[in-house]
Amino acid sequence: MSRRIHLALHPYGVGGPGQHGLWKDPRVAKDASIDIDYYIHQAKAAEHALFDALFIVDSQFINATYPAHYLNRLEPLTLLSAVATHTRHVGLVGTASSTYNSPFNLARRLASLDHISGGRAGWNVVTSFDSGVARNFGLDDHLDYGTRYGRALEFVEVARGLWDSYEDDAFPADVARGVFLDPAKLHALDHVGEHFRVAGPLNISRSPQGQPVIFQAGVSEEGRDLAARVAEGIYAPGGPLDQAREYYADIKRRTAAYGRDPDHIKVFVHGAPVVAATDVAARRREREIFDEDNDFDRNLALLGRSFGAHDFSVHDLDAPFPDVAHLAERGGRTGAAKIIDRAREQDLTLRQVVDSMGTFRRSPFVGAPETVADAIEEWFAAGAFDGINLAFRTTEELDLFVDGVVPLLQKRGLFRTEYASDTLRGNLGLPVPANRHTRAA
Ligand SMILES: Cc1cc2nc3c(=O)[nH]c(=O)nc-3n(C[C@H](O)[C@H](O)[C@H](O)COP(=O)(O)O)c2cc1C
Repeated sequence: MSRRIHLALHPYGVGGPGQHGLWKDPRVAKDASIDIDYYIHQAKAAEHALFDALFIVDSQFINATYPAHYLNRLEPLTLLSAVATHTRHVGLVGTASSTYNSPFNLARRLASLDHISGGRAGWNVVTSFDSGVARNFGLDDHLDYGTRYGRALEFVEVARGLWDSYEDDAFPADVARGVFLDPAKLHALDHVGEHFRVAGPLNISRSPQGQPVIFQAGVSEEGRDLAARVAEGIYAPGGPLDQAREYYADIKRRTAAYGRDPDHIKVFVHGAPVVAATDVAARRREREIFDEDNDFDRNLALLGRSFGAHDFSVHDLDAPFPDVAHLAERGGRTGAAKIIDRAREQDLTLRQVVDSMGTFRRSPFVGAPETVADAIEEWFAAGAFDGINLAFRTTEELDLFVDGVVPLLQKRGLFRTEYASDTLRGNLGLPVPANRHTRAA
């Protein structure tokens, strides 16, 4: 069968980074980000459209300037557990930090979600962008990059070890023989590593997917390396076509270099399509969204997020961009470095940097359904992604995509016409990892 596109839905409630005006839209409920019915509705719409997954991002730090959705939102695995009981096919991918969690607890919660959902759980492993999280977990400083990503790798390895605590046939539950558990099929982990000491076993059986699907989001060298070693999916930033292609090729190359099948890591790029009846109407709507969001003071505050929630309003707007690189060393270094380099090369003031955040940039996935389907097909054929993590302005605009673009992708043989499987692994075409103890035996 020829390659097919994977689609995930990434709901933003009342508005994520840069979506400053979204909460004011009369169609957006002001409590959307904490309303489980909003997420259930989104998940059902995604499932109706045969999407692979619902994707929930997260952070554990805020201040009053943070995006509206971040200020007041549900915890991802709690949210997804509720959504699981209202859906049957759509995958449920939740973001959880490997820096501010403990492997035993998180492995248990993810295995629980995989059981609750009948095999649809995914974990987006992040090392935490917001360095301020440290102070919510008893630390003065965010861990440095090397430590964070070293910990992330060991965290995933421990979680996978814990998920293999029981072999698949560990519970004969044979009433006649009086045997509930076969103790030979229960295995302690006895992990002792640089970051963790975990005895195990985990107190939950292997889940329907064997193990939840591992996603990763992070673009630094360290982030790419982690993805190539352990991830089965990636949430990638996307960007212009040549950049997305470069990233895609790099990830596949690195994955193969670790002896893995490059097809067993699915790269999802971020995409925010705007669909309307005509190209002109869609472009008009794109511009309208830009105008709703464009707000200098909010962009100034958002800039601070890459620099450990630094308050840029204390600086002179018309002086050269301040020397703040050290504030990003432990948080959003990759993104921050781009901003700093550009400011230096072009000799920009702080005001000019913020103004450039408010520059209108045309998205490739905007137009009448045919136009958007053409652009998606072109990017896919060019090797820019395996899938798209889709964000829509409103539920109405999600519907325009589902009703207009999805049928065209299906007609062209680029997207499924029915679910292949009840599990996220099955729909993504990922193998079920064999239990290491069964394999060894
Ligand atoms: C597309 C994308 C989505 C991300 N989503 C999250 C998230 O939901 N929560 C979070 O704490 N970090 C998120 N991150 C940040 C990474 O986990 C990472 O900590 C951060 O980008 C800094 O590392 P890097 O330089 O490797 O990218 C995301 C990164 C990317 C590229």
